[in-house]
Parts: sequence; C-alpha cells; structure tokens
Amino acid sequence: MMNLESLKLSSLPENHCGILRHSSNTRPVIWVIEENGVRGVVKDFSNSKFFYRNIIGRFLIWREHKAYKKLQGLEGVPACYGVIDGLALALEEIPSQPLEKHNKNIKLSRTFFDDLKNIVDSFHRKGLAHSDLKNGANVLVGYDGRPYIVDWSASISQKEFRFFPLNRIYLRFVLDDYFAIIKLKMRYVPETLTLEERRQYAKRSHMERGIRGIRDRLRKILKKIV
Ligand SMILES: Nc1ncnc2c1ncn2[C@@H]1O[C@H](COP(=O)(O)OP(=O)(O)OP(=O)(O)O)[C@@H](O)[C@H]1O
Ligand SMILES: [Mg+2]
Repeated sequence: MMNLESLKLSSLPENHCGILRHSSNTRPVIWVIEENGVRGVVKDFSNSKFFYRNIIGRFLIWREHKAYKKLQGLEGVPACYGVIDGLALALEEIPSQPLEKHNKNIKLSRTFFDDLKNIVDSFHRKGLAHSDLKNGANVLVGYDGRPYIVDWSASISQKEFRFFPLNRIYLRFVLDDYFAIIKLKMRYVPETLTLEERRQYAKRSHMERGIRGIRDRLRKILKKIV
C-alpha cells in the first residue's frame, strides 16, 4: 500500500521519478512516483484546462476509481491506492511495457492470451466490462511475462446497466471484450489464432464494415440535406 496523505499534486513536477506519458488537451499526465520505497503510477488531470479538468477529469477519475474498487484483489489488475484531490488516481506500478510498444522480436509467452482471457473472465464475473481492450495501450506486458489490464475509465457496470435495453448493451460490451482479445491476437501473434477465432474475426470485420458503410451513406445524405 501507499500513504497518499502527504502527497500533493502540485509537488509532483519536482518529486516524480519518471513520466510515462505527457499530458495533452484531453489526456492526463502519467507520473511514476516513489513513497517509502513503494513505487506507484499517478494518472493526473490537475494540469488540464479548467473546464476539462473539473467536468471531464473529475468524472473519469471517479468512474475509474469506482471500477478499481470492484476489481480489488483480482490478478492481472494493478492495486489502486486511491484518489488525490478528486483529480488523480494512484495505482500500483506494474513493471511492464504496453502491448502496443512490445518489441515484436521478443516472443510473448505461449500462455499470454490464455492468461488475458482468464483475467477477462474474472472481471466479467465481478459484473464489469472493460470496453476498451482492443487498444494496445491498455494491455500491459509485465516483465514477469504476464498480462495486466489498465484504463478502466470507460468500463461498464452490469449493475448500472441491469434494465432493458441497457442489459443488452452490457452483454454487447462483454462480447466486445472477448472479441478484443481476438483482435489483439490478430495484430500481434496472428499465427496463434485458431480456425474458430479466424472465423469470428472475419465475421465480425464483415459486420463492422457493413456498419461503417451505412454510417458513411447516412453522412452523405445528411450533407445533401443540411
Ligand atoms: N499501473 C500502471 N503501471 C505501469 N504503467 C501504467 C500503469 N497505468 C498506466 N500505465 C501506462 O500509462 C499509459 C496510459 O495509461 P491509461 O491507459 O490508463 O491512460 P489513458 O489516458 O487512458 O491513455 P490512452 O488514452 O493512451 O489509453 C499505459 O498505456 C501504460 O503505458
Ligand atoms: Mg488507455
């Protein structure tokens, strides 16, 4: 654990021990910190512009913290140390590289995607869908070779989505999480895809293309009208 009481967001620019990602208009800065020998990561909106910081930033931190409380103790998810000033979230540091930056010459462990699926099963059992797993920045390859999942700000809770038609949408997000695993496999280790996974991938891409086609046609029509 880490004691956040003495931690001030305003002192992080001097007291951090690394920056994993700089902030942008819409994205928080990700600091690496150390307190009494414990290392952590702080996702921090305190430098965003006033409106974004107070409306969006606070909301996203609140949502993500809520998700981490549900995920407490699950393997493959960093421990959450808490929220600072409503604007930042402190997490256990996972010594890792995000999948999107993983050097393709270094083979992922044979069980990496099976482990990932087990993690996905375990948070679905807790009634949570991640919904942004196909983003290779949100799946970390631990230096121990195992997968870890971060970035729960877009996650969906089964409890909040329990009534029709939201319950259908929740199920859709659950399926999407599994489909994301297939997509990541396709991108990073296509040779390990099973025939069934290839079939699902083809079917799904076909459907996504169809939906994009309809959207593009609608756009054209709208442009003519407006
Ligand atoms: N607990 C952690 N341990 C190690 N690295 C982490 C941790 N949390 C986040 N990171 C790093 O910070 C990056 C961004 O974190 P996160 O995805 O939570 O923020 P984000 O603002 O949603 O970013 P993006 O928009 O790129 O998805 C991750 O890709 C990862 O490299
Ligand atoms: Mg992310």
